[in-house]
Amino acid sequence: MMTQYSLLTPEEAASVINNNDMVAFSGFTAAGSPKVLPLALAQRARSLHEKGEDFAIRLITGASVSAQADDELAAAKCIKWRAPYQSASGMRKAINNNEVEFVDMHLGEVAQMIRAGFFGEIDVAVIEAVDITSDGRVFLTSGIGNSPTFLEHAKKIIIERNSYFSSRITEFADNVTLPGPPKRPVIPLYGTMDKIGKPYVQVDPAKIVGIVETNQADQIEAFTKNDETCVQIAHNVEKFLLNELNLRRIPKAFLPIQSGVGNINNAVMNTLGKNPDIPTFTLFSEVLQDSVVDLLLSGKVTGASASSLTITPDKLQTIFDNMDFFSDKIVLRPQEISNNPELIRRLGVIALNVGLEFDIYGHANSSHALGSDLMNGIGGSGDFERNAYLSIFMAPSIAKGGRISSIVPMCAHVDHSEHSVKVIITEQGIADLRGLSPCQRAKVIIENCAHPMYKDALYRYLSTCKPGHIPHDLHHAFDMHIKFLETGSML
Ligand code: COA
Repeated sequence: MMTQYSLLTPEEAASVINNNDMVAFSGFTAAGSPKVLPLALAQRARSLHEKGEDFAIRLITGASVSAQADDELAAAKCIKWRAPYQSASGMRKAINNNEVEFVDMHLGEVAQMIRAGFFGEIDVAVIEAVDITSDGRVFLTSGIGNSPTFLEHAKKIIIERNSYFSSRITEFADNVTLPGPPKRPVIPLYGTMDKIGKPYVQVDPAKIVGIVETNQADQIEAFTKNDETCVQIAHNVEKFLLNELNLRRIPKAFLPIQSGVGNINNAVMNTLGKNPDIPTFTLFSEVLQDSVVDLLLSGKVTGASASSLTITPDKLQTIFDNMDFFSDKIVLRPQEISNNPELIRRLGVIALNVGLEFDIYGHANSSHALGSDLMNGIGGSGDFERNAYLSIFMAPSIAKGGRISSIVPMCAHVDHSEHSVKVIITEQGIADLRGLSPCQRAKVIIENCAHPMYKDALYRYLSTCKPGHIPHDLHHAFDMHIKFLETGSML
């Protein structure tokens, strides 16, 4: 069935990639990202550098890829340009040292920008698949990401065929690409679990350079931190949602939930899952984490739609062992669908994301510590929070053992503006910003969300600002940040 494609070693496949090529990797997070080619590519870069030759590529992905891949490529100085998201310490360091030009983008609009040619052509796409047929049908694995668009637009394609995954994983896939503007039709998806595409992506077989065989799990680690702060934030989210439900501001049937990645989101999902007063619900998200598997099994979550199964190997095995149960309860979509503003707005999604810092007027920073150093990127948080029915941001009120306050007079970097952040929740409490003017918001955020040790400083700042619609004192707006940089603490 697959005989016409050449079988390549990872090294042979890496040799197809040339200096300055735009390379696209499949997947979304470590889920579905290539396993062996990135390491062979890093090795190719090292060997060429030793010979004095230039070799660095431009790399575009769905979201992050495995930390090992990003870190190896960064260490080998193989990447000159990177988009749209990353979460690996080595890559982060290279970006913050200005060794890699990084473009931090809303994940939902990457595919459209590729189709429009905003970044030039894609020279090579490296795509993980469970299978490819002789007529060019590619069956993707655990992360769909931008692969349908990469496959459509790349000049050359390398397939990593990974036999680790159950071939039944393809039952989750709903692949589709969108036409360009101006007269594109409505996306005909009216419920979280609707399917509108195909289980495979059709490509021109002539573009397939060859297949590299692998047998490796996604490198996904469990989120184990379930500390008091995460639990308290989760309880505050639960309290807020129950109140909205009682006031009928969330319909009785509830609304689809988007849940970001990390310990706080896992704690929130577990808490909502256990509460009998929260109705059963669906997820319309970009990633599904471990907690979702148990919530689906218990029936609390009735269906889950996302771009990836960012799930540890054990939990993934639970899915594979019970495919008859899970088959119609999970849908994996391209990220331009999972993160699509039209759908997020239409479905009335409740967005639950974690931020780094918030200012007293409700702006949020998800991506740049102290305004300068990239953490991971904006990811899909902007796609969801701008278009959600309810945008909820969560964070511990302090970081670094209390030396940083997450609530500051002015965010040192803004990803989400006061116009769309609706609710901020820390372990201290809930700031419901809907319908409040900036001055009203400031009082609610300081009173309900700031840590007690920072409240005085924040109130003091507020009291020294000249009147204005959004009162600020530009001479002192960053005093807390500057104090941290000079003394190691905002206190
Ligand atoms: N200023 C500077 N550093 C801060 C900070 C602040 N206000 N708040 C937290 N930090 C530091 C923490 O100390 C920690 O650093 P350390 O590991 O060196 O101690 C780091 O930032 C991460 O904090 P942590 O509490 O571990 O957060 P997390 O793992 O929950 O991640 C984000 C938080 C914001 C980085 C993460 O959610 C993210 O990347 N968000 C953007 C993308 C997104 O929202 N994706 C989901 C959309 S669907």
